Amino acid sequence: MTKLKSNSPLIEKDLAYNWHPFTQMKHHETHPPIPIKRTDGCYLIDMDNNRYLDTISSWWCTIHGHNHPAIVHALSTQAKTMCHTLYAGTTHQPVADLSEKLVAITPKGLNRVFYTDNGSTAIEMALKCSVAYFKRKGYSQKNRFVSLEHGYHGDTLGCMSVSHVSEFNQEFSALATPAIKIPVPIECNKPDQLNMNGFITYCANVFSGFLKSNNNEVAALVVEPLLQAAGGFRMYPPQFLDMLGNLCTNYNVHLIVDEVATGFGRTGRHFAVDHVPNLSPDFLCLSKGLTSGTLPLAATLTTQKIYDAFYDDSKSNMFAHGHTYCANPLGCAVALATLSLFETDRTLDHVAKLSAMLDRKHDQFNAIHGVLNTRQLGSIFAMTIPSLPSIHTELCARGRSAGFWLRPLGDTLYFMPPLSIPVKTYEHLVDTVAEILTDILPT
Ligand SMILES: Cc1ncc(COP(=O)(O)O)c(C=O)c1O
Repeated sequence: MTKLKSNSPLIEKDLAYNWHPFTQMKHHETHPPIPIKRTDGCYLIDMDNNRYLDTISSWWCTIHGHNHPAIVHALSTQAKTMCHTLYAGTTHQPVADLSEKLVAITPKGLNRVFYTDNGSTAIEMALKCSVAYFKRKGYSQKNRFVSLEHGYHGDTLGCMSVSHVSEFNQEFSALATPAIKIPVPIECNKPDQLNMNGFITYCANVFSGFLKSNNNEVAALVVEPLLQAAGGFRMYPPQFLDMLGNLCTNYNVHLIVDEVATGFGRTGRHFAVDHVPNLSPDFLCLSKGLTSGTLPLAATLTTQKIYDAFYDDSKSNMFAHGHTYCANPLGCAVALATLSLFETDRTLDHVAKLSAMLDRKHDQFNAIHGVLNTRQLGSIFAMTIPSLPSIHTELCARGRSAGFWLRPLGDTLYFMPPLSIPVKTYEHLVDTVAEILTDILPT
């Protein structure tokens, strides 16, 4: 039984029975989890009615704010008629409507939607489908993957194999063959002897060099477009993604784009791939913002060409893959409401305002001793603070006293609040955190 300094029955019960994700549970002996009673818009509210601004959108999901009335309405309306039906041998209106919408707003050529229920399973589907496609086309040796250094694609075995090997997943490396990793042109890692264009070309050449001799073994390249979120909010230019896309086409390798974190307006466009005109991914993986943080749902979009490879009189040629909650009607109804809000609330126009405000904040952080590499993409703002691990606890405690729920990642501090956050509220968060950092970072 966990020893605990707490007089909250909820915390005690939670820690008596539960095991939290990505958590050293012993740490909770001295730092118990915060019991959240309810959520409201951009806020998490604890049992004592303290309100905390959700600066990371509850793991990057919430787009329109918690409990948005239109989404709650869609959920309760759908729940009255149908909560669930298996999605094999049946269909339903919410899934047909949602797929039509997703096909309309994603890049041209993506016109088939396969549903799963979280980001990892959206990627797993793409990995398996890519290999199965090539097998059907006579390329059965094409069963390796290439991915970007510092990428993160989830925690299932396939996803770990295409993710960066880190202290968290190293112990499982014998279970999944790691993908070939290629370098990423991140501004702050640029070698002195290269300019940024040279660095981009160098990284693309590593990929093309590998493909020249190994493309007959490679099924797909898997990338997070423009932003490697869990890898430390590393941002790379659209030009690099464009080059990778062209190389994939030239070498008959699929491009799997993981928009699990970047999708749904975060980067200022609907999808990060929209920053690269004419990019044609073979798979586009969506989750998180798809339901604005309301229900677990994921979708992997792919092309007619890939779909057709499985379309046959023979059952054995089908794509033999699926999950119990594929295309859950509640999730689909909520996703439809989420997409409608982009239009009624003019969400992307609002993100442009958030982005303009953040654009003015770089100097303020760069002036703080110990803060490096401020960076921004749409509504996302991040910085590197090498000494962050040593000030983590104090920073989060000071943040909470000021009404902010912060969750730094290693030496990276970032803000990724719901897109519905008012500009003034976001500005207050940024200014207050700058003050806290000035106060607690050693000079
Ligand atoms: C880019 C990316 N892909 C995949 C995943 C995995 O998603 P999930 O945690 O829903 O399995 C994440 C999770 O953070 C992610 O950021």
